Amino acid sequence: VPLPPPFQVPLPIPPVLKPVSTSGGVDRYEMTQREATAEILPGVRTPLWTYEGTFPGPTIESRRRRPVTVTHRNELPVPTVVHLHGGRTRADSDGYPTDLVLPEGWPGTAVGAAPGMRNGHGGHDMSGHGRHDMSGTHGMHDPRAVETTLTRDYTFPLDQRPALLWYHDHRMDFTAPAIWRGLAGLHIVRDDAEESLCLPAGRRELPLMIADRAFSADGSLAYPALDPTLRKQPGVQEPYLAGVLGDVILVNGAPWPVHEVDAARYRLRVLNASNARHYELEAVTDDGRRLDLVQVGADQGLLAAPVTHRFLPIAPAERHDVVVDFSSVPIGGRVMVVNRLGSGRTRDVMAFRVARKAKDGSRVARVLSTDLPTWRRSDAVRVREFSFRAGRMRGGHGWLIGGKPFDPARTDVTVRLGDIEVWRLIADVHHPVHLHLVGFRVLSRSGRRPLPHDAGLKDTVSLRPGEAVEIITRFDAYRGRYLFHCHNAEHEDMGMMANLEVT
Ligand code: C2O
Ligand code: CU
Ligand code: CU
Repeated sequence: VPLPPPFQVPLPIPPVLKPVSTSGGVDRYEMTQREATAEILPGVRTPLWTYEGTFPGPTIESRRRRPVTVTHRNELPVPTVVHLHGGRTRADSDGYPTDLVLPEGWPGTAVGAAPGMRNGHGGHDMSGHGRHDMSGTHGMHDPRAVETTLTRDYTFPLDQRPALLWYHDHRMDFTAPAIWRGLAGLHIVRDDAEESLCLPAGRRELPLMIADRAFSADGSLAYPALDPTLRKQPGVQEPYLAGVLGDVILVNGAPWPVHEVDAARYRLRVLNASNARHYELEAVTDDGRRLDLVQVGADQGLLAAPVTHRFLPIAPAERHDVVVDFSSVPIGGRVMVVNRLGSGRTRDVMAFRVARKAKDGSRVARVLSTDLPTWRRSDAVRVREFSFRAGRMRGGHGWLIGGKPFDPARTDVTVRLGDIEVWRLIADVHHPVHLHLVGFRVLSRSGRRPLPHDAGLKDTVSLRPGEAVEIITRFDAYRGRYLFHCHNAEHEDMGMMANLEVT
């Protein structure tokens, strides 16, 4: 496929979804998951799986503590699961990987299937593990064994710090190909305290969902399907074992886009929605100057105080809230966002063209928030240790937590509601580890101080090769069954996920 030259396509901003009703103190939304096509690369149409026909899906804008209900209808050819990443959500709305929304006419819908009907958990067929393909129809042979509905209401209390959350597919064994095909969108939570800080807002606050993709000659998304004949040849690695990378960098669904800005401060709400690619972002001007990246927030909202970076690492599923000041760039000048870890075309991410002088009433306060939890190691009632390593599972390669691949029928960890715990996470290679339900703080990296971008409240932490990272959290939200997993989406599908029961 012909790739567009960098920094030519305008940056799209995902549409904001309108609620169908706001009565009774609840914002109600409806979303249909359906197939659609988009002209991502010039002259070709790319078939996608979408929320509401767009990639990224529409953005939901919420106020803190104002509950939201989203009714999802599945018109895709496969079952789906919706998870609000970073949400403090009750277990029945958290998108457990076997809590399916079935498409109409899916085999078994007649058995389990009046809308809203619950069939209970357990007995899930694990044979789909490691057998990826784009149709995603393996591995779900007995829908009676899992919880299924044709539509599903997801309720989000949003009793949490204002933050950039994101929703995405979470179906067991097929999360990676589903996200790859387009099932991801943003959900922003706001409150008055944050707004009173006068950070750049309105046109000067930009959501940036970065995701790499690969394309076939006809414009369709290329995702490596495992050729069963490869499996029999000794020494041949499954092609996606390390995770799937693309050679086209999309921001908000557009390849290497450009955005016109005022010579003023902008608030960039960056999400790495890539399946497996890590980035180290820097902002470089035409004349080779590096602009400061002033981080004001992390996965779970505002930092205590801003942290200035020259470059900013971001692992899959992490979010950074960053203020960049374009006022020192001459009018007509350009600022490129590049990935120091990329090469050739994967080095470029996007660009800003500084179009005009403008007034700027925004500021970055020296104190951004005072409500961050201050858990100390001595507050923890226990320390647990988990290894994140490659291993053999069911005769093939997989990714394991504590030596085990994911099993929905096994409880891996039971924690008591309200307990503070330290978790020591040990990695062989890069693993971005994500906890559902609760935010955590990074205590240490291999016995040393956390990195500058570990500040604040996180829900995903990037374990680097060979590292042991300690995190601390309080399991204070809800009781029920949740997950923790690697957010390299292929690792997650290949077993690197575990059950966390809050009792
Ligand atoms: Cu972003 Cu369990 O997921
Ligand atoms: Cu999550
Ligand atoms: Cu991993």
